Amino acid sequence: MPEKNCKLSMNDIVSLCKRRGFIFQSADIYGGLQGLYDYGPLGVELKNNLRDAWWKSMVYERDDVEGLDSSLIGHPLIFKHSGHEDTFSDPMVDCRDCKCRMRGDHLLDGKCDNCGSKNLTEPRQFNLMFKANFGPLEDDASFVYLRPETAQGIFINFKNVLDSTSRKLPFGIAQTGKSFRNEVTPRNFIFRVREFEQMELEFFVEPGTDEEWHEKWVQYRLEWWKEQGLAADKLKLFHQPHEELAHYAKATVDILYEFPHGFEELEGVANRTDFDLGSHSKNQDELNIFAKVSANHDSNAKLVVQNLEGKNFFVPYVIEPSAGLDRGVLAVLSDGFNREILENGSERIVLKLKPHLAPFKAAVVPLAKNNERIVEKSKEIAKKLSRLRLGRVKYEDIGNVGKAYRRHDEVGTPLCITVDFDTFEGAEESVTLRERDSMEQKRIPIREVEKFFQEFYAAGRVGNSIW
Ligand code: GLY
Repeated sequence: MPEKNCKLSMNDIVSLCKRRGFIFQSADIYGGLQGLYDYGPLGVELKNNLRDAWWKSMVYERDDVEGLDSSLIGHPLIFKHSGHEDTFSDPMVDCRDCKCRMRGDHLLDGKCDNCGSKNLTEPRQFNLMFKANFGPLEDDASFVYLRPETAQGIFINFKNVLDSTSRKLPFGIAQTGKSFRNEVTPRNFIFRVREFEQMELEFFVEPGTDEEWHEKWVQYRLEWWKEQGLAADKLKLFHQPHEELAHYAKATVDILYEFPHGFEELEGVANRTDFDLGSHSKNQDELNIFAKVSANHDSNAKLVVQNLEGKNFFVPYVIEPSAGLDRGVLAVLSDGFNREILENGSERIVLKLKPHLAPFKAAVVPLAKNNERIVEKSKEIAKKLSRLRLGRVKYEDIGNVGKAYRRHDEVGTPLCITVDFDTFEGAEESVTLRERDSMEQKRIPIREVEKFFQEFYAAGRVGNSIW
């Protein structure tokens, strides 16, 4: 058994991401833009796979959730009524000595992050929303906001979804997509960035049932992160104290993960009460955007749009599990990263990702890249497996099987399939399967490869258990 030797640092992750094409600094040829990152060929697969896993669990595997994809550019009134214009800000301070700018609420002992000086300005509130011009006029009346959370797109479409689906409480609306925050100090790689992707569910419930639903959602989401491969002892819950709650929340439980830089929020599960639907209804009768749900949801619930308070109508409460997709990518990369010392003393880096998250589902490796028969057979297998549509299958003609295995260990490919000279010996054609975590190898007939591959992904197993 290999020995684990893994004191993980953020640099290990950053370096692997760049070396193997997961994540790059955005605009690096122009010196980069702080707090922006681009996902490379493997990063986009990993990110898509994690987002798909979320969507399947939140929308396809439940019968009480609808999906949505709303615009990234937001009407200014949305963020006026949501409270973001007034309250979505962080305290910012400047160091008079080194001129560094930083968040006032993240200081250690009141000292500058950079030079340790205490010669700092008083904190000023800095609104985190990006403003942009809308249309050809550059005047004060023609501005919009880039959305700072996907949630508002859900609230303003509440009535549209209700009217078009005839849903009754409790039900949810799920959305994934980009959000933007002009962070004072982006940091810790893709953890705190200015453009990021969220996976948010707004789950609408009857007032009075909200606390029970809140607890259920915290547990459901915690279990989901474990299913993505995160170690249970690196996850913990944090109940936000009252003074830390966002302006819209009655209670929030954060799911924290132990990132290389320490325990931090991976997902927040908030009880937003009726704050948002209520806010979007206030003073907006003329916009007619507010829907109220009949209390009698046992019967054919009458979903009525009305501007006046009615006796039998109420504003639903909402429970919001809100996860960061980029933070999720960082968590699964950190959890999967292993540096092992093998019996022969050499080191291998292996990314132990769950098969459904792995960027490549398999690599097909020809033992000799100049042997036409071996090459043809390898390409044929790769094509057949690709057509099963379980994800990317790589034809890997690096020319050295040992190197191909190491390369695929590092990017988390669960299976390598090698075509060699023995393939064409014996009663029927065969290949070697090599599993990533155990490094065990097994020979199977080629006619069984597709079935094995399908079963492997259906079961989601890795390690010794696959044989
Ligand atoms: N929707 C919650 C958040 O963006 O923090």
